[in-house]
Amino acid sequence: MDQKVIHTIRPVVQVVHGHETADGDGVRLTRLIGGPALPQLDPFLLLDDFRSDDPDDYIGGFPPHPHRGFETVTYLLHGRMRHGDNAGHSGVIEHGGVQWMTAGRGIVHSEMPEQEDGLLAGFQLWVNLPAAHKMMAPRYQEFGAENIPLEPREDGVAVKVIAGTTSRGTRGPVRDLITPASYFDITLPAGATFEEPVAVERNAFVYVFAGDVHIGGRRIEAFSLALLGAGDAVEIAATSDSRLLLVSGAPLREPVVRGGPFVMNTEAELRQAYSDYRAGNF
Ligand code: CO
Repeated sequence: MDQKVIHTIRPVVQVVHGHETADGDGVRLTRLIGGPALPQLDPFLLLDDFRSDDPDDYIGGFPPHPHRGFETVTYLLHGRMRHGDNAGHSGVIEHGGVQWMTAGRGIVHSEMPEQEDGLLAGFQLWVNLPAAHKMMAPRYQEFGAENIPLEPREDGVAVKVIAGTTSRGTRGPVRDLITPASYFDITLPAGATFEEPVAVERNAFVYVFAGDVHIGGRRIEAFSLALLGAGDAVEIAATSDSRLLLVSGAPLREPVVRGGPFVMNTEAELRQAYSDYRAGNF
């Protein structure tokens, strides 16, 4: 029997314009999640947009620093970023590439722009880990642009699938995630519409970084994040040539106790993270 699926389109419940800040050694960036307007969106703890063609804004990079209890996802649009950690893992994220790093029980790493001029642009997203996996062994999933599939749709719409599977079956290279999440980079020409199911139990956001779009009657301009409300699908209509991230994740619904680069469930675990780091036990 043919069953008609009636979707409930998710409304926009909050628009975040971001908060200009600096991190690492003076890297200028815009914080969309993890700032005062939106401290977290379970399971996401942070979203930064860094983009500048002025090396003074980024050349200091992120010298060695620790992480414990979550994952960092770096997706680079322009430029190159060299990374290295205290376990000897190193490499370069090239433009169009992604690094999905599970810090787990702890790593100390550096993230340094490799170029001395030109545009550097990209995003860093932090995905929380559930209590049972916060102390897992660190691991990496790294893919260059050539390994990230592009799903072409009608009217020039194109979806780069970094993690998760689209309704049309395109599957991203980042897999076996502890915290289920999808990460799509979507290009929408002016006048085009993008529609996609987003599982009802997930939290989801759209971050527009070029052009402007309408979602549920709200106009969302470039460099704004739209937090999506309850529903099982998203509908995005581009007013001008646009590009955006659509990210969704299964909420953990656990206590979050964060201190800088450590995100744990209790104050005692946070104190332990600081003392383990100071004692060189990462
Ligand atoms: Co880091």
